[in-house]
Amino acid sequence: MRYKEIGQSGIQASVVTFGAFGIGGGFQFPDTNDTESIRAIHAALDLGINIIDTAPVYGFGHSEEIVGQAIKGRRDKVIISTKCGLWWGDEEGSYRFTWDGHSVKRNLSPRTIRMEVEQSLKRLGTDYIDIYYTHNPAMEPFLTPIEETIEVLMQLKQEGKIRAIGASNCEPHHVQSYIDYGEISIVQKKFNMLSREPEQAILPLCNEHQISFHAYSPLAQGLLTGHIRPDHVLEPNDPRQNDAWWHGRNLKLATEFAGGLVEIGSEYGVSASSIAVAYLLNKHANVNVICGIRKEKHLHENIAGAEVVLPPNVIAELDFRLQKLELAAEL
Ligand SMILES: NC(=O)c1ccc[n+]([C@@H]2O[C@H](COP(=O)([O-])OP(=O)(O)OC[C@H]3O[C@@H](n4cnc5c(N)ncnc54)[C@H](OP(=O)(O)O)[C@@H]3O)[C@@H](O)[C@H]2O)c1
Repeated sequence: MRYKEIGQSGIQASVVTFGAFGIGGGFQFPDTNDTESIRAIHAALDLGINIIDTAPVYGFGHSEEIVGQAIKGRRDKVIISTKCGLWWGDEEGSYRFTWDGHSVKRNLSPRTIRMEVEQSLKRLGTDYIDIYYTHNPAMEPFLTPIEETIEVLMQLKQEGKIRAIGASNCEPHHVQSYIDYGEISIVQKKFNMLSREPEQAILPLCNEHQISFHAYSPLAQGLLTGHIRPDHVLEPNDPRQNDAWWHGRNLKLATEFAGGLVEIGSEYGVSASSIAVAYLLNKHANVNVICGIRKEKHLHENIAGAEVVLPPNVIAELDFRLQKLELAAEL
């Protein structure tokens, strides 16, 4: 396993992060099994992954609790990243969605962030969080000025409750505000072969300021694993319903592309998932990947991607295929 510094924080994180969304269970991951989740976390730590990404909203506290249980006795060896700003504690905030009966709002006020950090510390069974992200930027109608949010994050850092500040799902102007009003060590956004928008602006900005970029959904939520068929039908309430790649002609094109990854993977003795991970890590020195892992068997494939060295001609060939794919798709 390789490790990279998170921004200029001094924290060294493995290039693959254990994404703990799924282990929260709930309606999106109804077949999640806590014993299997804890086994997968232990296996990941034993294989050199030292960073786990969770959030309060993942299973409404359950993901954080399972992470807390899994890292008992090895807290000092694990980097925990969690988030604030998706709030269901009271009615304050800008309504976003209702999951499992909870009405979730965006809220980045100092009042709720202070409550959220205490709740996360308790669920995780720790007295500090290594990386604390704002899960999403604030939005109308409940729009906390970003400088107020940054001020409370800086205070939490001074108090030793968090070690590094991050922003998720943000735009370049948000990153600039963190730089202007405080600091930022890490950005987390969706980035995979089928979703390459970060390459335009935010990734170059992160590179310029030595801010780490952590890519979530590196396997396009399973679509790049080579296991999805062109006639795959999603459950009606599956959140991937909102993703244009999972429907009709696009799904056919994406699964054909993933078939190509299977072939390239066989040349390296690895799976399509490993090539999808390797593409991001080989193309961008500043990128780490956050793989959604619930099962030990997936873990091995995803980790293998961290060891694959793709030469420039293979990256160029994949970029060429992606350009053709993007032109042919209806997005
Ligand atoms: N900041 C944010 O707003 C945000 C949003 C989304 C995600 N995230 C973070 O990023 C993490 C990863 O996101 P993601 O779950 O969307 O990413 P992903 O890794 O692209 O996709 C996970 C999906 O791929 C499947 N999978 C994983 N490895 C596989 C393998 N080797 N073979 C076959 N299938 C495999 C999983 O299957 P199973 O269902 O069978 O496990 C799951 O359905 C999350 O856990 C979370 O920590 C953050």
